[in-house]
Amino acid sequence: MAIFDKQKTAGQGTVLPRHIAIIMDGNGRWAQKRGLPRTAGHAAGAETFRRIAAYCRDLGVEYLTVYAFSTENWKRSQEEVSAIMGLLKKYLEEAIEKMRRENVRIRVLGDTSVLSPELRALIARVEAIDETLTTRTQANLCVNYGGRDEIVRAVRAWASDPEREELSEEVLSRYLYTAGMPDPDLVIRPSGEERISNFLLWQSAYSEFYFTDTLWPDFTEADMDAAIEAYQKRDRRYGGVKLSKKP
Ligand code: IPE
Ligand code: IPE
Ligand code: MG
Repeated sequence: MAIFDKQKTAGQGTVLPRHIAIIMDGNGRWAQKRGLPRTAGHAAGAETFRRIAAYCRDLGVEYLTVYAFSTENWKRSQEEVSAIMGLLKKYLEEAIEKMRRENVRIRVLGDTSVLSPELRALIARVEAIDETLTTRTQANLCVNYGGRDEIVRAVRAWASDPEREELSEEVLSRYLYTAGMPDPDLVIRPSGEERISNFLLWQSAYSEFYFTDTLWPDFTEADMDAAIEAYQKRDRRYGGVKLSKKP
């Protein structure tokens, strides 16, 4: 029902975001509240991601970009980092099996060069399948991703490109991990934190932000509906003048 309602409004001026980005935060606190190790929170968060990605696909969202592991998250204990990498491995292995059936393309964004050879091989396999899919929805998993790091890398790649064009915003965008994708319309951060934490710094210049206290493992389809509904009420001006509302 909710799906139908949101698609119906699409033709009436309130459109479904093409690109939704999520900072999947609050896994540790979710586990702590239950007296469980933080790693149990990450496992629960991974399940939430599977569910929400399927929901976004059903809604017809074109891009879902999630922050799974930041360039700063290496500061955590080795146990926690390995647990997160283990969950990523499990997810990618499943994706190799199910991607065609599930109809969601998967891309990994970030500096993957420092990940284990095993993970890198899985990412390469997923990306090879990716090229053969013609589905509407793409899920971008940001792993060892940092917005500043991404910009520095883009500038370096541009500077060393023998065919580089004169630098402009549009040209630089082509060297980002998100090259060719629209900027996120909506950035959601659960868990009560209201900061960007080095996520999509360039791309979120005109994104709408939605914050909720819900911890990521508890995030449901209803929370996604609430975020989309809030987004649909926003007036995006991009520095221009407010458009007069139709009577
Ligand atoms: C987000 O949950 C997942 C990662 C950063 C990898 P956290 O692990 O940051 O959970 P909290 O913020 O400690 O609750
Ligand atoms: C941001 O969450 C990174 C991810 C969700 C992967 P953090 O928990 O690392 O961010 P801070 O430390 O609260 O800013
Ligand atoms: Mg956190």
